[in-house]
Parts: sequence; C-alpha cells; structure tokens
Amino acid sequence: MRVSLLNLIKKSLYILTTIVFTTNNSLAQTNKEIKMENPPKILIAYYSWSGNTKEVAEAIQKEVGGDLFRIETEQTYPEEYKATTAQAKREINEGFLPTLKGKVNNIAQYEIIFIGSPNWWGTIAPAVSSFLAENNLKGKKVIPFITHGGGGEQNTITDLALQCIDCNVSKEGWVGYGSRTFGISGWIKDLELK
Ligand SMILES: Cc1cc2nc3c(=O)[nH]c(=O)nc-3n(C[C@H](O)[C@H](O)[C@H](O)COP(=O)(O)O)c2cc1C
Repeated sequence: MRVSLLNLIKKSLYILTTIVFTTNNSLAQTNKEIKMENPPKILIAYYSWSGNTKEVAEAIQKEVGGDLFRIETEQTYPEEYKATTAQAKREINEGFLPTLKGKVNNIAQYEIIFIGSPNWWGTIAPAVSSFLAENNLKGKKVIPFITHGGGGEQNTITDLALQCIDCNVSKEGWVGYGSRTFGISGWIKDLELK
C-alpha cells in the first residue's frame, strides 16, 4: 500500500513536470512565431557624396532587409573635393539646410530608421540635417551610421541626436573609416532589432 502511494506521488510529479515543461516550450515557440510574423519595418536613409556611406547603407540592408532611401540635395555639390569642403564649411557654419530632392513615402510606417552620414567637418552633412528637419521621427528608434576620413565620430552622432526631435537615438551607432563594412554583421547582431 505504501509503495503504491509513493508510486502515485512519483507519477503525479512526473505528469506535472511534463505539463509545465511543454506549456513553457510552446509559449516560447508562440512568442518566437509572433516575432517572426511581425518583423519591424526598417528604413535605411543615407546621404553620400562620394559613395562610402552608400556602400555601408547597402551592407546594412543586406543584413536587415528594409527599404533604402538616398537623401539627395536639389542643388548638387561641386565635383571637386576642395570646392565641396569649402562649400560644406560655409553651410555648416551658417546652419544652412539645403532643399532635398524626393521624400520618403509614408515615413510613419517605419519603426526602425537607420540614418547614415559622412563626417563633414566633425558633424553630419547638411543634407542629413535637412532630412531630420523635414521628417517627423518622433518615437522612432533611430540608429546612426557614420563614415569618416580619419577623424572618427567627432560630433556626428551627438549632433544627429540633437537634431532628431523626440527620437530614440541608439548610442551604438556604426562609425567606420571610408567604405569599411567589415564588422557590420556583428554590430547588427548586437543591436538586437527583433
Ligand atoms: C565636405 C567634406 C568634409 C569632410 N570632413 C571630414 C572631417 O571633418 N573628418 C573626417 O574624418 N573626414 C571628413 N571628410 C571625409 C569623409 O567623411 C569620408 O571620406 C566619408 O567616408 C565620405 O563619405 P561619402 O563617400 O559617403 O560621401 C570630409 C569629406 C568632405 C567631402
């Protein structure tokens, strides 16, 4: 009699453990499925004068999918590097916001927005400032990516964050020399976008 009571208790414990384990497992599975069924809508918007930031933008898109948008100014910069740096210096000092060509179609649909800029005189390019001024990114998760010619991040990301009103700007932005894309996939994994 005592043995069978012990057996009964053992059996009940086994059944209970199995139920708890299975329920937990299927809940985890359901959560996973929900996440995969509703991936966040991603936009990758970037300005690129000589092509480096464009390459990084395309590498990001390869990793995360989403839509690419190239920010372009109505009036193009001079072909020559020196003349462009001189014009850029003037514009940045004056807080000039160049008029942009084209618009993102229904920006409200995106939850995550990668914003790319070259480092121009230690800050973001004026075209990116125009983009931030004319688009309402309130409440969006914004992930900056910066390319530079040796100066590194400087004030690029802090200026971008200041100009992005009420955005949730990630501090883990990409900062890379020129068109370097090595390391992008590890960086994306660490962002935990899902
Ligand atoms: C107008 C201008 C200003 C720049 N100022 C800086 C700078 O202050 N610091 C820096 O590291 N690189 C500077 N660079 C170099 C660019 O940041 C670098 O080459 C960048 O990767 C170019 O990106 P893009 O090819 O997408 O235009 C400047 C380039 C230009 C054209």
